Amino acid sequence: MTTNIIAHRGASRLAPENTMPAFKLAYKLGADGIETDVQLTKDNIPVLIHDEHVKRTANGRGFVKDFTFAELRKLDAGSWFSKKYTGTKIVSLDEFLQWIKPRPLYLNIELKNTKIDYKNLETIVYDMLKSYQLLDRTTLSTFNPVSVQRMQDLFSDVEIALLTSRRNRNLVHDAKRIGANALHIKYRLLTPSLVDACRRKKIKVRVYTVNRPIKMAKCFALKTDGIFTDVPDLGLEQRKQF
Ligand code: G3P
Ligand code: CA
Repeated sequence: MTTNIIAHRGASRLAPENTMPAFKLAYKLGADGIETDVQLTKDNIPVLIHDEHVKRTANGRGFVKDFTFAELRKLDAGSWFSKKYTGTKIVSLDEFLQWIKPRPLYLNIELKNTKIDYKNLETIVYDMLKSYQLLDRTTLSTFNPVSVQRMQDLFSDVEIALLTSRRNRNLVHDAKRIGANALHIKYRLLTPSLVDACRRKKIKVRVYTVNRPIKMAKCFALKTDGIFTDVPDLGLEQRKQF
């Protein structure tokens, strides 16, 4: 089994995270898939941005939830990263799905609903994926176990992952109990026994955020289902040795 190389927020070491240049670059470099983060604007448009607040990755101030989509689109989401990317826009989920549809990429959409539990975020994202017929190559993930449970109750035709950074002896059992089909774990939680437990429970296991060759090697040796990396080109190069 091959470990998928998933570009974390796109090729985010080389281009501004969660923007079209970062996604396009990930594809060009040969990544197997793309991970991105989704939140809702004031007018309920799903947009791709990691933080609840726009200030780190755009030239504005305020929470994503307090901007309309039109207002968010006026911000510059590239110049913080490099002058070269001045004028880069915050992307809607719709624009991203339209772009990815004809490209053979795996897709991981992380719902950013831990600090703010956006109303109906799960359904809004699911319905959009369904309309693009992308459910069969998508994983919906979240750090929020209640949201995992909600999705498990509502949807039967999309993979659902629980994200976690916390050590917990019963992690795999707990994930299975709430209906997760996959576990997305922080690298420091990765052990052979955890991978074995996932295999026994038929849960996929992917690891974030893996940027160093030595860490990549451990993931490849343990045959994890995927790694999330800011440097997909390095991941692809390292994987050749396995
Ligand atoms: O989905 C893996 C990883 O992206 C989770 O952490 O903070 O980078 O969204 P974060
Ligand atoms: Ca993420």
